[in-house]
Amino acid sequence: MDLTVVGVGRIGGMLVGLGQAAGWRVRSVGRDGPTAAVDGAGPVVVCTRNDDLAQVVARTPVDRRGDLVFVQNGVLAPWCRARGLSEATLGVLYVAVDRVGAPPVPGAASVFAGRHAAAVAGLMHGGGVWARTARDEEDLRREVGTKLAWICVLGVLGEALAATVGQVLETQADEVVALCEELAPALAAGPDTAADPELAARVLAYSRSVAHYRTTVKEWPWRTGWLLDQATRAGVALPRHRAWLVRAGHGERLAAQEARLSDGRGP
Ligand SMILES: NC(=O)c1ccc[n+]([C@@H]2O[C@H](COP(=O)([O-])OP(=O)(O)OC[C@H]3O[C@@H](n4cnc5c(N)ncnc54)[C@H](OP(=O)(O)O)[C@@H]3O)[C@@H](O)[C@H]2O)c1
Repeated sequence: MDLTVVGVGRIGGMLVGLGQAAGWRVRSVGRDGPTAAVDGAGPVVVCTRNDDLAQVVARTPVDRRGDLVFVQNGVLAPWCRARGLSEATLGVLYVAVDRVGAPPVPGAASVFAGRHAAAVAGLMHGGGVWARTARDEEDLRREVGTKLAWICVLGVLGEALAATVGQVLETQADEVVALCEELAPALAAGPDTAADPELAARVLAYSRSVAHYRTTVKEWPWRTGWLLDQATRAGVALPRHRAWLVRAGHGERLAAQEARLSDGRGP
């Protein structure tokens, strides 16, 4: 089996290692040149940060774009649709890799949907990093929503309290639950996310598995910004989330986004 990994950082390095251990033909791609051969085959897993995605797609031959696999946090489906990438495979990662080459710490099964879902999930799971294919579109939407909730809730609490995930759990477990309950209607209202009935319990469970992690508010347009936008469109108020964002020092960014949204512009 051929595997191409674009961006060999923490996640990319994990996949290169898993591919080599499984005897796959692995190709690593950096910042330059085409990501994939026109006549090649197999998954092309993009392991860059979200803001590098457009550049990576531009370097991918049109005939190979259906082989792309995106594993970034955030809600990728609308971004893919807008660029004619509806055939791309999407992955929701529930694994932490602290630094390049560090052993992966899975906290739940990572979930994949699309053309290469079975191959990539099988590679990870076979290498000891729990993974599975999505049962259906609703299943994927719930996973995207659950991971987004985890990122938004633990990100803002971790930053506001300058605490690890484990320290947040020790003092703020009730607040984690309250924030998840506040966010759930916004997730349920979006076309590309859904609210798992066990959302808060799942967010707490994943947090326990990565208690050593220090989380902050990052990649705003893909994460918190997307959530605030979705909540505004759905008419869902997020007073708790807003208060924590202000406490974490994001008041100006929050106000700027709210001004844009009230003008009818995006995040
Ligand atoms: N790490 C985790 O535990 C974890 C968990 C779940 C999800 N994720 C998600 O997985 C994605 C990758 O995260 P990561 O932690 O592996 O990031 P990372 O360690 O920062 O690695 C990103 C890699 O992409 C490379 N890169 C940047 N721009 C590129 C381009 N235009 N073309 C090709 N390569 C490029 C970087 O190379 P340079 O060294 O040259 O900058 C780096 O090797 C992110 O979206 C993240 O949110 C990560």
